[in-house]
Amino acid sequence: MQINMTVNGNEVTNDIEPRVLLVHYVREVLGLTGTHWGCDTSNCGTCVVLMDGQPVKSCTVLAAMAAGHDIRTVEGLAAGGTLDPVQQGFMAEHGLQCGFCTSGMMLTARALLDKNPHPDDTEIRQAISGQICRCTGYATIVRSVHWAAAHPAGADAAATVDAVLDGTDNAVPDIATELVETEVKA
Ligand code: FES
Ligand code: FES
Repeated sequence: MQINMTVNGNEVTNDIEPRVLLVHYVREVLGLTGTHWGCDTSNCGTCVVLMDGQPVKSCTVLAAMAAGHDIRTVEGLAAGGTLDPVQQGFMAEHGLQCGFCTSGMMLTARALLDKNPHPDDTEIRQAISGQICRCTGYATIVRSVHWAAAHPAGADAAATVDAVLDGTDNAVPDIATELVETEVKA
């Protein structure tokens, strides 16, 4: 069957089998592997994408059900090459270690802040309650969302996608060090 939808602002059209899940469609057909697939039980939430601005577990949605809708994945968070404040918050507050849950966490945070620009701890924890982080712990994730709420326009004009990839963003060395230390401990 043929499906059409908008993904990260781009119109996409593909022929797929009706049984294909949205998580597999974005990963394997569109090549957007920032959306992760972590379980077979709809429990982990690492596959969260935004459908018409609402977080959905893309392993529970058929790609065909997303036809005609607006899908946003983590690859669509940065606007014009500048990291979303949520991405900057996760860097500033060390909201990730392995990063496996992070794309889903950040998309849920973006949806929350779009509806509620100043959530309290309870509201943030409720928003991410369907998602599991097995290594960071939730305190830094909650702090990361608070950081984004406090900096709705972002705080670091140099926090561009290119700067992160080049390693020239100031926050990158801290995260790199944290990742290395985590690997050593493991
Ligand atoms: S992959 Fe675990 S909830 Fe979707
Ligand atoms: S950062 Fe590793 S699972 Fe959340």
